[in-house]
Amino acid sequence: MGPLSAPLCTQRITWKGLLLTASLLNFWNPPTTAQVMIEAQPPKISEGKDVLLLVHNLPQNLPGYMWYKGKMKDLYHYIISYVADSQIIIPGPAYTGREIVYSNASLLIKNVTREDAGSYNLHIIKRGDETTGVTGHFTITLYPETPKPSISSSNLNPREAMEAVILTCDPETPDASYLWWMNGQSLPVTRRFQLSRSNRTLFIFGVTKYIAGPYECEIRNPVSASRSDPVTLNLLHGLDAPTISFSYTYYHTGEVPKLSCLTDSHPLAEHSWLTDGKFQQPAQVCFISQITKTYRGV
Ligand SMILES: *[C@@H]1O[C@H](CO)[C@@H](O)[C@H](O)[C@H]1NC(C)=O
Ligand SMILES: *[C@@H]1O[C@H](CO)[C@@H](O)[C@H](O)[C@H]1NC(C)=O
Ligand SMILES: *[C@@H]1O[C@H](CO)[C@@H](O)[C@H](O)[C@H]1NC(C)=O
Repeated sequence: MGPLSAPLCTQRITWKGLLLTASLLNFWNPPTTAQVMIEAQPPKISEGKDVLLLVHNLPQNLPGYMWYKGKMKDLYHYIISYVADSQIIIPGPAYTGREIVYSNASLLIKNVTREDAGSYNLHIIKRGDETTGVTGHFTITLYPETPKPSISSSNLNPREAMEAVILTCDPETPDASYLWWMNGQSLPVTRRFQLSRSNRTLFIFGVTKYIAGPYECEIRNPVSASRSDPVTLNLLHGLDAPTISFSYTYYHTGEVPKLSCLTDSHPLAEHSWLTDGKFQQPAQVCFISQITKTYRGV
């Protein structure tokens, strides 16, 4: 079997070797002894990563192993085999160049792609008269790396007393779950916050200063999680009736009374004063400079 390692001959001889082992398999009986276990490390992976299919409870002193893609043990799904006696590795039609089989039968698949997802089958060849085929089976599930999400809002500058604000966590990602945070904590349990069925959309009912945020959303799947940048709602509240405040109720002659206009608005409102019906310069405070003992003003 020496020429097997020579690259130019590999394909032709591989097929010979394959046909031989395949026909031998037909004579073997179902497993009788140790429970061979296949374990993937890591169990859940994303594209581009490596996965090792670890084989546990492998019987000692075996002449060889064969790995198949899928559940069928047919030639077209034959990936690679290891012949222990001659320490030869024989790739098959389903070999992609990214598989490495070790002497302990474990299979490393490098740079996993979508096409690698699915089932894998290990066939163990036993020695001697009581030759048996043992089959292990494992399924690789592939998850995408989650993208960094962003929050879009139906209204980033909601006015107070508006009905609702709708926040959406973008993009829509298959097989992922969505989580929301407000002020760095999970959403408070209140009727004010309602989530869509997928949790991707957050409905906030009743605009008050308590909903300003910041909000963050996270996209999570079994292999990764990514969180958005925080988004704060820029709450606009309307104008309440302003109030005028005086520094004192009585003034001495020569003092300049100061009146302040108090409003509660966001963003800050512009203030105008009318003295006896006449507009003054816009300002938040109003000084009455030419006051006399008999001064009266509206
Ligand atoms: C088989 O060999 C590989 C590579 O040396 C190693 O990473 C793995 O842990 C071994 N498997 C077992 C079950 O010992
Ligand atoms: C992994 O595979 C992709 C194509 O599937 C290729 O573009 C990339 O270069 C490979 N990466 C490595 C480290 O081999
Ligand atoms: C939505 O989130 C809740 C917890 O807030 C969780 O119990 C539920 O499973 C999530 N639904 C989906 C479809 O992810």
